[in-house]
Amino acid sequence: MELSDNEVRVLSFLVHLPEDKKKIQESEMKIEGLGDREVSSAISWLETKGLITVDKIKTVHYDLGEEGEEYLYEGLPEEKLFNTLSKRGKVTIREVTEEFGEKQAKIGMTQLAKLGIKPQKGELEFKEIPGIKELFLKRKKFLESLKKGEAPEETEVLEHFKKREGVIQEKRQLLRIVKANKEGMEYIATHKEEEKIGELTSEIILSGEWKNKAFRKYDLNAFVEPLTGASMHPLTYLINKVRRIFLEMGFSEMKGHYIEHAAWNMDALFIPQDHPARDMQDTFYLKSHAKIPMEHPEITKIVKKTHESGIDGYSGWGYKFDSQMADDLLLRTHTTVNTIRYLYEHKEPPVAIFSVEKVFRHESVDWKHLAELHQIEGAVYSKDASISTLKWLMKVFYKRLGFTDIKLIPSYYPYTEPSMDVIVKINGKEVELGGSGVFRPEVTKPLGLKEPVIAWGLGLERLAMIYYGLTDIREIYNSDINWLKTYKIRL
Ligand code: PHE
Repeated sequence: MELSDNEVRVLSFLVHLPEDKKKIQESEMKIEGLGDREVSSAISWLETKGLITVDKIKTVHYDLGEEGEEYLYEGLPEEKLFNTLSKRGKVTIREVTEEFGEKQAKIGMTQLAKLGIKPQKGELEFKEIPGIKELFLKRKKFLESLKKGEAPEETEVLEHFKKREGVIQEKRQLLRIVKANKEGMEYIATHKEEEKIGELTSEIILSGEWKNKAFRKYDLNAFVEPLTGASMHPLTYLINKVRRIFLEMGFSEMKGHYIEHAAWNMDALFIPQDHPARDMQDTFYLKSHAKIPMEHPEITKIVKKTHESGIDGYSGWGYKFDSQMADDLLLRTHTTVNTIRYLYEHKEPPVAIFSVEKVFRHESVDWKHLAELHQIEGAVYSKDASISTLKWLMKVFYKRLGFTDIKLIPSYYPYTEPSMDVIVKINGKEVELGGSGVFRPEVTKPLGLKEPVIAWGLGLERLAMIYYGLTDIREIYNSDINWLKTYKIRL
């Protein structure tokens, strides 16, 4: 059996302990040049190698809590109250509260009541209680001894303080009592002389020390922590699963850009220029005014006309369209911009498309909101596309993910009519997952789309939350290695 230098030193320390003290507590083992952690790890190794015996003892230890510290310096609330009473004879609860503060007053009164002075009609009256001074003293002494790190003797007082909040703190510890066994002693007796080289360093090579020393054998049977291999992030897994569902249903995947012109992200979708969602409060605009040429510059003119005066009998918003605003660059706020671009470039129906991509919103982040999130976007452009196709598609999609209880409720988006929000029912709770609807003619007609378009934009992280049973959406991005390790998803 091969031991590391540290193990040899710890074992030798144990073997050479005086006869009357062969057992020692781990924390008392002070070995020069070895830190507590090294000693501790060597003990574990020596135990697995069968050279020492380790008795594990659970201990309970008490410390002062925050309240306890305060009582130590300011006195026990019950004692302070009792002293006030003995001076004044009577005090009202109101006075007590004002003088002691609400919390201490409450504690003082509760404790005094247990000792025999109960408030009556909003008042406390002094009463002689035999032994009360001694009791207070006992309690204070107890707290003092805890402060000094002494083990509590007064079990009665201990039980009393255990019931009071924040006065004492219970700390549980595992003590290890260590002793070299027969095998350990034999090992030291037979391996006395040499210290073997376990790690070949440049110093050892340069000094030539290696020439006169033996090398520790490489132990193939040594115990090592099992490795967890690489696995896929749960969110990546879910993205792929969503992609697979749409691909299997015959959809094509579209790709978009993080940075978009307002013309595409908003105007082409008939979002009025004074819509609150366009506000700086909700949207990240780019400061840079460097002109990035629009891929389809004609779009601004086309949508300007619709916004100002409508199209084919639809009246439009009736305001003066600001073409400069349409040039603003922003981080896309939704992936519906992917859809509208794609359809403009693929005007021949039928088209069935989807994407799972990131969007950005100027939101304050909390347990159910993120400022950077993914949307599951999609659309069907076909003469057969209708609100019932949409309902059916949503049902099928979520069913494939394992959610059978979904609900569609009326909603509003400037670019769809009718509009519906998708809600999933899970454990009796309803979670809103996103929006959907049929594109308005004010969106489709100007772009030359002749058939109906049904579309949806659904939150991926919200879905991940319920899929993985998380209570806080931020957990997905926490990179908590223990959480990640619980999902062994093959790459
Ligand atoms: N774009 C909407 C959102 O971001 C969702 C949506 C997509 C609504 C398509 C209707 C149609 O919430």
